[in-house]
Amino acid sequence: MAPKWLGRCPDCGEWNTFVEEKEAPAKAAKEYRRGQTSSRSPVPITQVSGQEEDRLAVGMPEFDRVLGGGIVPGSVVLIGGDPGIGKSTLLLQLSGKITAGSSTILYVTGEESTSQTRLRANRLGALSDNLYLLAETCLEDIIPHIEQLRPAAVIIDSIQTIYTQQLPSTPGSIGQVREVAAELMGLAKGWQIPIFLIGHVTKEGAIAGPKALEHMVDTVLYFEGERGHSFRILRAVKNRFGSTNEIGVFEMGSNGLVEVSNPSEIFLAERPKGASGSIVVSSVEGTRPILVELQALVTPTNLGTPRRMVTGLDYNRVALMIAVLEKRAGFHLFGEDIFLNIAGGVKIEEPAVDLGIALAIASSFRDKPIDNHTVAIGEVGLTSEVRGVPQLELRVREAAKLGFQRAIVPRSNMLKLKDPLPIALVPVTNIKEALEELL
Ligand code: TYD
Ligand code: MG
Repeated sequence: MAPKWLGRCPDCGEWNTFVEEKEAPAKAAKEYRRGQTSSRSPVPITQVSGQEEDRLAVGMPEFDRVLGGGIVPGSVVLIGGDPGIGKSTLLLQLSGKITAGSSTILYVTGEESTSQTRLRANRLGALSDNLYLLAETCLEDIIPHIEQLRPAAVIIDSIQTIYTQQLPSTPGSIGQVREVAAELMGLAKGWQIPIFLIGHVTKEGAIAGPKALEHMVDTVLYFEGERGHSFRILRAVKNRFGSTNEIGVFEMGSNGLVEVSNPSEIFLAERPKGASGSIVVSSVEGTRPILVELQALVTPTNLGTPRRMVTGLDYNRVALMIAVLEKRAGFHLFGEDIFLNIAGGVKIEEPAVDLGIALAIASSFRDKPIDNHTVAIGEVGLTSEVRGVPQLELRVREAAKLGFQRAIVPRSNMLKLKDPLPIALVPVTNIKEALEELL
C-alpha cells in the first residue's frame, strides 16, 4: 500500500505491479439481499435446513456434469479461458437450450453488438423470444434490468468490460473487476438468480484475469483447448456444489460446439499402428476415465543443449521421467532432442500417466513400437518404482471397453482389487520390469 503511484514496488522490486485502489464508500451489496433478515444470530448447525436446492438442468449433459448436476439457484459461475476459445459460443448455446423451455435468460454483451450476437445465435440455433440481449457495460444500468426481468439466469460477457460508477478506475482493472463481481455476487444470492461471468485469461498487464476472482465465486470453470485443434475441454477447478476435476468435452464445428460423450474413442481414432514412441494411457478426470495417446519423438540433437518440448503434459514430470530413465534404466538421453505430445490437444497433468511418458520415450529412443493393444497406468517415483494410482478399476474397464487386451499396472494396486477385470493385467514394481515386458 502506498499513497501515490510507484513504478517499482519497493518490497519485491517488480515493475508496474502497483494498481490504484480508490477507497469506495462502504456500501455493501446488502440492499439486494431482500427477503432476508438483516440481523442474523448464530444457529445450531443441526437446525439449519439442509435441503439440496432444485437445480436447473442446462440440457447439455457435458455442461451439467461439470457443474455437478445443473445450475444451483443463486450461484455465481466464472468461466475463464483464452480469448477466441469459444466462451461466448458456449454460453450462447447454453442460453439457447435453457430458453427453449419457458425460462428467460438475460445475456449482457459488453463486447459484441446485439446484432452480432443475434447473427451468431441464429447460426447456433439459439434464437428464442425468451433470450434477452442487453448491450451495456455500466453495472448500475444493468442491475435495474435484472430486477425487472427476473430471468432464470444472467450471463455477463465479459466481466472485464463491465464497470461500476463507484470506482473511477478503468474497466478491466483489478479494482473494477473485483467490485463488479462482488456486487453481482450479492445480487445473485439475494434474488436467487444464477449468474455466469465470462472472464478472459490475460497475460499480466492492465487487465485483471479470472484468477483475481476465483476465491469469491462459487464455481470456477476453465474452457481450454489447443490452437489449431477443434477439441475444447470445460474443466471445473473450484466447485462449491459439486466435485472438481470433472471435465466436459466439446468439439468446435461450423455450427458451434458439439458435445463429445465418448472422448476416448475420438482421441484414439487416428492412432498410428506399429509406430514407435506411441502408447495409450488411461487417465481419470473427475469421475470419468479418458484414454489418450501419448507420443514421443527422440532424435539426436544438433544443438549444445538438447531440446525438450512438451505439449499437454506437465513439463516437470516429463523432466523427471527423463532423469529416471537415464539414472535408473541406463538410457543415454543427454544427446537427444525429446518431443512429447498428447494427440488431440488434450491436457493431462495427473501423475498416473508417468509410466506412459517413460515408456513412450523409451520406445522412441529404441525405435521399437509398443504393442497396440496395451495401455500403461502408473505413477513413477524417483527411484523408478511404479506407484499405485487411484481408481485403477475404472481405468482398466474403460480400456477393456475400447478393445485393449492388456494393461501394465502398479503391483501395489493388485492387492486391493476385488473383482476380476476383463483384461490381462501385468503388475510391475519398477520401470525396468515394464520395459522388459514391452520393449
Ligand atoms: P468465441 O465464442 O467468440 O470466443 P470467446 O468468447 O472465448 O472469445 O469463439 C470464437 C471462435 O470460435 C472463432 O475463432 C470462431 C470459432 N467458431 C467456430 O468455429 N464455429 C462457430 O460456430 C462459432 C460460433 C465460432
Ligand atoms: Mg466472447
